[in-house]
Amino acid sequence: MSKPEFNPFNPEFRAHPYPFYDSLRTHEPVHTTEFGMVVLTRYDDVSTTLKSADFSRDIEKYSTQATSESRQRRREMDRKRTKSILNLDPPDHTRLRRIVSKSFTPSAMEKLRGRIEQLVNTVLDAAQERGSIELIDDLAFPVPFQVISDLLAMPTERAEEMREWSQIITNSLEPTATDEELAQSDAAIEQLVPYLTSIIEDRRKNLGDDMLSSLITAEEAGDKMTTDELMAFLVLLYIAGHETTVNLIGNSTLALLRHPDQAAFVHQHGLNSQAIDELLRYDGPVQHTVRIPLKPVQYEAQGNTFTIEPGTVVLTSLGAANHDPAVFDAPHELRLDRPNSHRHMAFASGIHYCLGSALAKLETEVAVGTLFKRFPNMEIVGTPSWRDRLTIRGVNQLQLSLS
Ligand code: HEM
Repeated sequence: MSKPEFNPFNPEFRAHPYPFYDSLRTHEPVHTTEFGMVVLTRYDDVSTTLKSADFSRDIEKYSTQATSESRQRRREMDRKRTKSILNLDPPDHTRLRRIVSKSFTPSAMEKLRGRIEQLVNTVLDAAQERGSIELIDDLAFPVPFQVISDLLAMPTERAEEMREWSQIITNSLEPTATDEELAQSDAAIEQLVPYLTSIIEDRRKNLGDDMLSSLITAEEAGDKMTTDELMAFLVLLYIAGHETTVNLIGNSTLALLRHPDQAAFVHQHGLNSQAIDELLRYDGPVQHTVRIPLKPVQYEAQGNTFTIEPGTVVLTSLGAANHDPAVFDAPHELRLDRPNSHRHMAFASGIHYCLGSALAKLETEVAVGTLFKRFPNMEIVGTPSWRDRLTIRGVNQLQLSLS
């Protein structure tokens, strides 16, 4: 490969990012793109950055990077909106994270196992009758979607629209998003916000035994979430909650089918937590995230010191960190018994570490584990297709013959 470059506009880069990450990590681990963004690909740099209090997650507030007119307009709009927990810094982040994390403990998630098993088996029973399954539409999308809807006791009559809105919003997170995609996302948010706000208002009057009711009544040191904060959190849950897990189920199934020795391992040992960590490391759904330094920060690479100024967008490549040979032996090999797979960065690190990690792993364990258990001889039909995206990476279509 010639000069290393982080270029999401290159289709080859989007389709096969790992060789590009390797080249960047080897030749320019602190890489500045032509738009002035700094890209980090070494595990240690990514980890230190995500854990450091010298960085903000609030791009809208702190980025000084020039951007297109439509992105600038969006930035202005976002500034006015109530931010979700993901875009807040301490102390606001600390306060909200304390409130919401009470609902997301591993033991609370484990209670969902029975329901997830039931959903997965219902889908697989129907697939067995047909003798085939399209993994993404039939299993990987509907199961996490139903689980998050159940958790929040959300009405399901607008499920189709919710799915469409969250896909449109997810597309707008890509660095390559066009003006049209950004406008579509703004329109989706305009529809989603009043819809979710009205649900929250209704629920205030009719509290139940669901997570939304718990969030409405949750208090931390006498402090409660406002309707706007709840709404921002629900939007995040819908997007984070299924646009990511669908890809973990899809990417993991495809990776296993392409590595029969590892699929045999699943048949023998089941899909345990260590194996799911390895699947997250091998081809995780979230390929990067961003931070903004609040003061000058320094990185050492190849005998040089790089000083990054406040306001610069720093992209931490989670996918590249997960394939860093300094941490993971033979990183491009899928090894479900890899002893240190739990060190992966697929859920990021530091204060924004994924709140839904236990749920995502549980859903994947049940969905992918049951699929392989029930259909040990399944085969791929045709050529699987990928979504043409980089930030949220995932299989788009995976047709399987089950008999
Ligand atoms: C395989 C599936 C998933 C992956 C790969 C994933 C990945 C991530 C990553 C990388 C972040 C941190 C982003 C950053 O630091 O900038 C994050 C944050 C978050 N995730 Fe997930 N996620 C997944 C599933 C879920 C699920 C199922 C939920 C909830 C139902 C969820 C809820 C959240 C929330 C609320 C945050 C923000 C936490 C905070 O800012 O403190 N995620 N996720």
